[in-house]
Amino acid sequence: MPEPVRVTGGKHAGPAERPYDLVLTDVRAVTPAGVIHGGVAVRDGVLLRFLSAEERPRAARTVDGGGRYLLPGLIDSHVHFRTPGLTYKEDWEHGSRAAAAGGVTTVIDMPNTLPPLLDPADAARKAAMVQGRSLVDYRFHLGVAGDDPSPLLDATPREATSVKVFLAGHHTAPTVVRDPASLTRIFGYARESGLRVVLHAEDDGVFELLDSWTGAPGRYLDYERVRPRSGAIVAVAKVLELVRRHGTAVHVLHVSTAEEADLLAAAAHAGLPVTFEVTPHHLSFTAADSARIGARARLSPAIRHERDQRRLWEAVLAGQAATIGSDHAPHTREEKLRPVADAPPGLPGVQEMLPAVFTGMRRHAPWQSPGTHLELIARLLAANPADLFGIDGRKGRLLPGRDADFVLFDADTPWMVTGAAMHSKCGWSAYEGWTMAGQVRLTVRRGQIIYDADAPGTFGPPDGRWLDAARPATPAHPTRGAVR
Ligand code: DOR
Ligand code: ZN
Repeated sequence: MPEPVRVTGGKHAGPAERPYDLVLTDVRAVTPAGVIHGGVAVRDGVLLRFLSAEERPRAARTVDGGGRYLLPGLIDSHVHFRTPGLTYKEDWEHGSRAAAAGGVTTVIDMPNTLPPLLDPADAARKAAMVQGRSLVDYRFHLGVAGDDPSPLLDATPREATSVKVFLAGHHTAPTVVRDPASLTRIFGYARESGLRVVLHAEDDGVFELLDSWTGAPGRYLDYERVRPRSGAIVAVAKVLELVRRHGTAVHVLHVSTAEEADLLAAAAHAGLPVTFEVTPHHLSFTAADSARIGARARLSPAIRHERDQRRLWEAVLAGQAATIGSDHAPHTREEKLRPVADAPPGLPGVQEMLPAVFTGMRRHAPWQSPGTHLELIARLLAANPADLFGIDGRKGRLLPGRDADFVLFDADTPWMVTGAAMHSKCGWSAYEGWTMAGQVRLTVRRGQIIYDADAPGTFGPPDGRWLDAARPATPAHPTRGAVR
């Protein structure tokens, strides 16, 4: 006789008696609808449902969140993990451990490697190099060469939804686009392929002109003076003109000056498909710190002045900036100790990003609550990058049915950054000696615990996946609600 069909109650009960894989209780979940006190239940890598504060369903593993905040796993849409060719600086084993320890569960990697990723046909090969080495899920930005942008026409969302264009380079950018005709072509092709153009917007012509006048800079101690704000402002003005002409969606990276923030916010307000990123470095340091810390705090574009930093914070707190990206760009200690003009620009940051941004928010807007700050972080560091790069179907928000990517964040326990606690292969941090206002306790990627602050030195399985994506919608102005 056949077994009677068992009727199970409630749409979430699923196969009724099968316990959940993972349950987190007593968390303050930072959801798109606000902060909710309760728990989350996970099965097969997916957030199945929220739990009330009292519920304790059966689970293979239950973690007491201790009343801490639970954020969506962060998406860092700006990392340089250096594969292939530059793995002496960083590799996916180390970079993804740094990411996990920083609450990041998805990264989008930059193409300026050796060789650079210029052809969508090579994306699968790069993914094969990363497979089995990454704790976190990943995607790639394509690169482009000015003399032959035609591979962009073959791009589909499987390989990339974005193309990174360097308008200036210094040590680290193999394919700088200097020629206006090439740039025009790239904007046209990107629009045709539905690729968002992500930009290093500094104008090489401006730097060349200044160098031809004063002689190439011999010393970079006063870095901002030899790679000045005019380079960034001129580049952004040119980019806006191209956007106006072609309608191509752009995301301007590492905005460093007040003027850029003004221009980009105004352009977005005027309806152009323009968004921008700021980095934790530009939010955390000023030119005075650069002089003190030296090449370790140097990146391209330069860290600027207090008034710029104030404007960048305003852009973050007012929702004008769409994303914060770490621009995790490690170089070895030896490289950074070279004579100042030869030390390459770039610093690690994927591990430091969440605590640094949270600490900055507490300092720059102390009248707002920690919950408000973490809601903003969930937008800038998860929901918005997911939307901009087409992975919002699975990532970026704490919602039932989405991937169970979480970070459990302790907003009450300060700690001090040391080089020894950093997981990047480069082994140093520009934030050494900083006291951070909050810390990552646990990171979960598709239901697996990949980082646990209580189990130092152990990490989850390196089975991060190369994610698929959908073609993202063209954003309207973030403060108008289209990018949220
Ligand atoms: O400072 C920087 N470092 N700026 C860049 O544009 C590239 C990056 C790197 O790859 O090191
Ligand atoms: Zn970068």
